[in-house]
Amino acid sequence: MSDRRHMVLLTVLLFVSVVSVSAFVEELDDSFLKRKEADDIWLIKFYAPWCTFCKKLDPIWHQIGSELRSLGSPVQVGKSDATTATGLAKEFKVINYPAILMLKKNVKYNYPGARTKDGITDFAHRVGGPLIRPLSSQQLFQHAMSRHDVMIVYVGATSELKGNYTLAAEELIIHTYFFSATRDVLPKAVSLPSLPAVVVFKDGTYFTYSEERDGDLKLWINKERFPNFSQIDSYTLYSMGESGKLVLLALVEENLLCDESQRSKSLVEAVAAEHRETYRRNFYFGFMVDTNYISGLMMSEVIVPSYIVVNLSSDGYFLPLGTVDTKHHLLDFLDGVMNGTIKSQGGNSITQRTRRLIYDAKVTLTPVFSQAPLLGCFLVGFPVALAAVFCYLCCKARPTLIDDDDDGVALLAPSLQHRKKPTNKKSD
Ligand SMILES: *[C@@H]1O[C@H](CO)[C@@H](O)[C@H](O)[C@H]1NC(C)=O
Ligand SMILES: *[C@@H]1O[C@H](CO)[C@@H](O)[C@H](O)[C@H]1NC(C)=O
Ligand SMILES: *[C@@H]1O[C@H](CO)[C@@H](O)[C@H](O)[C@H]1NC(C)=O
Ligand SMILES: *[C@@H]1O[C@H](CO)[C@@H](O)[C@H](O)[C@H]1NC(C)=O
Repeated sequence: MSDRRHMVLLTVLLFVSVVSVSAFVEELDDSFLKRKEADDIWLIKFYAPWCTFCKKLDPIWHQIGSELRSLGSPVQVGKSDATTATGLAKEFKVINYPAILMLKKNVKYNYPGARTKDGITDFAHRVGGPLIRPLSSQQLFQHAMSRHDVMIVYVGATSELKGNYTLAAEELIIHTYFFSATRDVLPKAVSLPSLPAVVVFKDGTYFTYSEERDGDLKLWINKERFPNFSQIDSYTLYSMGESGKLVLLALVEENLLCDESQRSKSLVEAVAAEHRETYRRNFYFGFMVDTNYISGLMMSEVIVPSYIVVNLSSDGYFLPLGTVDTKHHLLDFLDGVMNGTIKSQGGNSITQRTRRLIYDAKVTLTPVFSQAPLLGCFLVGFPVALAAVFCYLCCKARPTLIDDDDDGVALLAPSLQHRKKPTNKKSD
């Protein structure tokens, strides 16, 4: 009898917990597109059963679902097995896993950042809320200032500029917040040449957009949305590359425990602050603790602490000629990069990309080899055999393609080629 009762209790408990799980995160299949409402806002993770990064994301996803629910957010959280709900995955153009995206008013927004709970939750709030957030009082303005390192604000009434601002927001909302305010809400000390205006507040100062000087508004915002100095992960680095600026990085060890790491970080920070006007237009500044991405770029182990300038639009990089101990050395390094004394290494020529592919494969497969040599041999042997046949056929067909690095690139890729999007190898 009591056993029975236990069973009933257990069943009820199980039922409740299943219901509460599915209440936070809904499993979506191909019927989703038909039954969703036009006004629904969804945060969706596409996964594949065999993908380990997807599995790692599961508990985070559940936390996000429960947090958004308890905050009363309008954002609904779902997940979808892209190998079974293929129609849905196709509709959302999912090409790798896990893919994280939002659907709002039938517009899709891809999540571009590291797969952390905070990063994704912030993204959900940002994209789920109003595209442009009005700051209607001085208090609201101050509050927003205290919460955001970088704040982009439209000042003035409706105008053509506001239209352009809205268009920029639609695209860049995946990266940053967009605000609007009237002139009297801004601090008195802020002087604007004319209204309407677009202003970026950051680093204790502000910059005003000028169409003549700065060109396209969206490109300008995309350049200005980074603070003068910050911690940079591979995702940020990747999106910095889109602006065409170079990035000076202090590469430091994980917890900044040793004094030398602290010192190189401070050195870059000081140069960023004190020589802002000289270098701001050409450089971003920051420090990086997860150096996997950089070692992939350089195709060698990264020594920490050290300094590097990265040109993400060509996958090129610059290293200082001598040791860097002082601010003066660091400035020499930057000047050398600017005036061409220091030559760019790496790059995205065919040869470089092939080498990098081999390097990446080696890094990925070395642990496999040491743990399971036979499997390793099979994993390497089979694709290598295929590739060899493929190469043979290609080379026969087009014998002169790969003779000169740069011409090869021009032939194959007239537009800028980006290194593949960072994966979450070890960052989560
Ligand atoms: C808005 O954008 C268009 C096209 O990019 C540009 O021609 C126009 O000058 C912009 N208007 C303002 C006020 O910035
Ligand atoms: C950026 O530069 C400003 C002005 O030089 C400085 O006051 C501020 O502390 C810097 N911010 C960071 C995050 O380094
Ligand atoms: C960075 O790469 C781009 C694309 O190859 C190139 O046009 C630009 O000159 C490079 N910048 C520097 C400073 O080398
Ligand atoms: C380039 O800059 C470095 C560092 O400031 C300097 O030593 C060098 O003379 C400069 N070269 C040219 C050609 O201006």
